[in-house]
Amino acid sequence: MAEKKVIRTAVIGAGGRGKYFGRLYRKEAHPGFDLRAICDLDPDRLKEAREFFGDGIAYRTDSAKIYADPEIDAVLVATDDRNHVEPTLAGLAAGKHVLVEKPLCQTTADAGRIIAAARKSPGIFMIGFELRECTVFQSMKRLLKEGRIGPVLVAHSFDNVSVGGHYFFHSPHRQKAYYRSLLLQKACHSLDLLNWFVDSEPVKVYGIGGLDFYGRTADPKLRCRDCDRADCPYRISLESFQMDYDARVRITDFCVWSKELNLNDNSELCISYASGAKATFHECHFTPEYSREFWLVGPKGKMYGYYDNPGRFLIRIEYSHDRERRTEEFKPPHTGGSHGGGDLRLRDEFYRRIVENDPPTEVQDSAYYSTALAICAEESIESGRPVEIPGLKSVLAASD
Ligand SMILES: NC(=O)c1ccc[n+]([C@@H]2O[C@H](COP(=O)([O-])OP(=O)(O)OC[C@H]3O[C@@H](n4cnc5c(N)ncnc54)[C@H](O)[C@@H]3O)[C@@H](O)[C@H]2O)c1
Repeated sequence: MAEKKVIRTAVIGAGGRGKYFGRLYRKEAHPGFDLRAICDLDPDRLKEAREFFGDGIAYRTDSAKIYADPEIDAVLVATDDRNHVEPTLAGLAAGKHVLVEKPLCQTTADAGRIIAAARKSPGIFMIGFELRECTVFQSMKRLLKEGRIGPVLVAHSFDNVSVGGHYFFHSPHRQKAYYRSLLLQKACHSLDLLNWFVDSEPVKVYGIGGLDFYGRTADPKLRCRDCDRADCPYRISLESFQMDYDARVRITDFCVWSKELNLNDNSELCISYASGAKATFHECHFTPEYSREFWLVGPKGKMYGYYDNPGRFLIRIEYSHDRERRTEEFKPPHTGGSHGGGDLRLRDEFYRRIVENDPPTEVQDSAYYSTALAICAEESIESGRPVEIPGLKSVLAASD
């Protein structure tokens, strides 16, 4: 049997997600990957990584050595959202395969710079949109391509983020200055899926939003450890916190009701697409459930799609113009692993594209338009006016 091609990997950014990538993209987890190096600017993070991965790989604070290393084929960028641009551009300039975590970056101009570099690079470029690889969303896309409901004319999606309190509102740093917007940081997955299902570029967005549940009342210095509200559902201990992707991380215990918080905990959008389709979108960080829902309407019917991380997937299509109500249901299987199976499937897809030298051209549009839509939506919420979304072509021309 032919030997499997081995892709030598390096992870940039050794937070919870970077260490998780390290566990996934190494030969113990996949025979086609070999983890060679981990880089972080923070020596404490590297120390923690070394305790887990041992001495068999290189630990670096200087990522330049990784890009210059001919024995590294692929870099996995898992730095925090504010720091995706520099390592992604450096990896692409060095001709490496690059998988950058979502969101791509925090401005449309940077998104244009990255896509321009990806177009010139010989490496495979992908973004960490593992949900696109998940069976329920792949099945929805397939059913749409089969024309079951015709072209999507009207769409709606709801991001139910019950974990918002724990993930985003305990840290005084996790403000607009850090994330720009939770539409970008969290909802970019669903906005990307919406763009994919509508099958057109978003051209204009109007948004409203607010911080209506968290924040607003407590002294910003208050921490869970000093608080006497034993019944607070967001009370945490500092030891560790289970994320939704099979990793335990430390989070800080500042009060989720702090007066200094400034990220919106809910946003509501109206989106116009180049095709003429229209969509509405809700992101809410205080729902009881953690799931994503989509409603898509075309001339021949209406599709509903439900996703949650444990994999209780459901697609229901109701057909129009039948004498009797006719519905079809599909329950695509969960294929194992975190994020509804998406994380492992994204890894397999990255591997396949590298060995078959099959660059995913639509990934560039996906990475750009999910970012631009989220950024323009936040601008609209801030200004109270609809915002035109710059097309990728014009942004690429400006970045030349
Ligand atoms: N696809 C998903 O579903 C998913 C899930 C979780 C997190 N993420 C994304 O993964 C990224 C990382 O998340 P996290 O929670 O691990 O973040 P984190 O802030 O805990 O860790 C980021 C690490 O990157 C390091 N870093 C920053 N700039 C660097 C640079 N230039 N070179 C080397 N190291 C650098 C920091 O020191 C830090 O240790 C985020 O962008 C997040 O949005 C994606």
